[in-house]
Amino acid sequence: MLEPITQRRYLIPFNAARLPLQFTDVLVIGGGVAGLRAAIAAADAGAEVLLLTKDTVAESNTWYAQGGIAAVLQPLDSYESHIHDTEVGGAGLCDEKAVRIVIEEGPKRVLELLEWGANFDKKPGNAHDLAFTLEGGHSFARIIHAYGDATGKELAQTLIRTVRSRENIRISETSFAIDLITDEEERATGSLSSSPAPSRCLGAIALIDSQVQIIWAKRTILASGGAGQLYRESTNPRIATADGHAMAYRAGAVVQDMEMVQFHPTTLYVAGASRALITEAVRGEGAYLVDRNGYRFMGDYHASKELAPRDVVSRAIVEQIRKTHYTHVYLDTRHLPAAEFLVRFPQLAKLLEQFEIDPAKDLIPIHPAAHYMIGGVDADDYGRSSLPGLYAVGEAGCSGLHGANRLGSNSLLEGLAFGARAGLDAARGAKENNIKFPIRLDHKIPPSTKTELDITDVKSSLRSVMWRNVGIERDGPRLEETREIIAFWARYVMDKVFVPNNLGSAAAVAGWEVQNMLTVGALIANAAMSRTESRGCHYRLDYPATDNVHWRLHLLWKRPIETPIPDPIG
Ligand code: FUM
Repeated sequence: MLEPITQRRYLIPFNAARLPLQFTDVLVIGGGVAGLRAAIAAADAGAEVLLLTKDTVAESNTWYAQGGIAAVLQPLDSYESHIHDTEVGGAGLCDEKAVRIVIEEGPKRVLELLEWGANFDKKPGNAHDLAFTLEGGHSFARIIHAYGDATGKELAQTLIRTVRSRENIRISETSFAIDLITDEEERATGSLSSSPAPSRCLGAIALIDSQVQIIWAKRTILASGGAGQLYRESTNPRIATADGHAMAYRAGAVVQDMEMVQFHPTTLYVAGASRALITEAVRGEGAYLVDRNGYRFMGDYHASKELAPRDVVSRAIVEQIRKTHYTHVYLDTRHLPAAEFLVRFPQLAKLLEQFEIDPAKDLIPIHPAAHYMIGGVDADDYGRSSLPGLYAVGEAGCSGLHGANRLGSNSLLEGLAFGARAGLDAARGAKENNIKFPIRLDHKIPPSTKTELDITDVKSSLRSVMWRNVGIERDGPRLEETREIIAFWARYVMDKVFVPNNLGSAAAVAGWEVQNMLTVGALIANAAMSRTESRGCHYRLDYPATDNVHWRLHLLWKRPIETPIPDPIG
């Protein structure tokens, strides 16, 4: 069924000898927390770094993160407690080593941010003591935040400032990484054919300044972010089109846990408005969830009520919407002190004002939306993928920290911890690298014989079908239907070659994005179909129980094999 998707190695034909070339020690693809931190670590270890960002360096999921960073920074908190909470949230799929690394290295990474000038909120009337808050699944108030609900912006600005202060980091903005380049064709046909070593990642082919270029890199760090745009309802920015997941898969890296997509319970639900995230911290500060009848329903679903794990809250909202025959539920903040709300959530207050919603008087309409891609490129404790030379961090990677469900505010911490580790390891690896660049790379793709397509329509249709069938609740027949639909569209879209010379850059990028989205949509639907149980954020109506006997395992996917490779835990 997946043939047209898995057959494709590169999205465009190219001959490396005829393209403009760039050379670097470490190429970082993506400008969110993980990419920025990786770039700093690699530069500080002496590497020349090229940082490629799809939009401006400020446009990332990180920038929009509201909630905060979870870290053990208080004497009454403990690593063991944070580890326990993370593993309970992860529902049996966490990688213990990854959890320990992130949580034990986390405080150091946060203190370093303070040294670099990050301004996290302090306790009222106290200029020095950090203020902490609680979020769902955390048994201790260990979340730090900045300017109330602008944590991501402050974190991103701090890291961007630090990146800009490093002379050995070049930043290339509005640059679209099309594919990772590897030497497997050269090994099969050329001078390297007798080598027993597996193929290696040698950098990327990218659209930079409207020109397709080759970047030869001794090490490549994929930090290209998430996949939220695969879903009609999403908290993610427009650029989150799963490009990194797709290009790593095409290049032969193993991806895992692709069925694990986290949905955030509370996004603003106003017809025609973007699905803006309403941070979980609002519930942490005491907000209620009520239905159209004003009934506070979370007690019917979980003892922790509004602070139950995200998957539980999202499913409860879907169920309550069904029960009340309505389109959404509400967040009730009317009982919270109004002045404090404005100080704690200034961005949210501003957003609500635009829709004439007064949080002191009005209910806030909300609905769940796709928020975070837990699955990704299988990465070890230094962010190294299965493809030599390639690292994957942040949402593009899958370190195993989050298991089957991520605790709020653990992902910024992960980006810092694994970004730093990957950057350092990549810089070291680049020093030992003995590949002579450039090598011969000449990839041909036969012209498409299929009809032209409306790419915008394919994209919005895909987002609708993913939301309907591969969303918060899944079942076998709808997953099967989705696989067939995607395979059908793929037959017409995947054999197209989008070349900027013929189309203009924007149209070519839109075409590549849709090809990436179809590839990753197929992987998610296949993985969700394969896992015949419910666990964490993967919920199957036809298999509602968690099956620890058969399913305490990761599902790995590696092109061109079309069936998952089970990888048991432990
Ligand atoms: O609710 C939030 O602020 C989201 C936090 C997170 O996804 O980590």
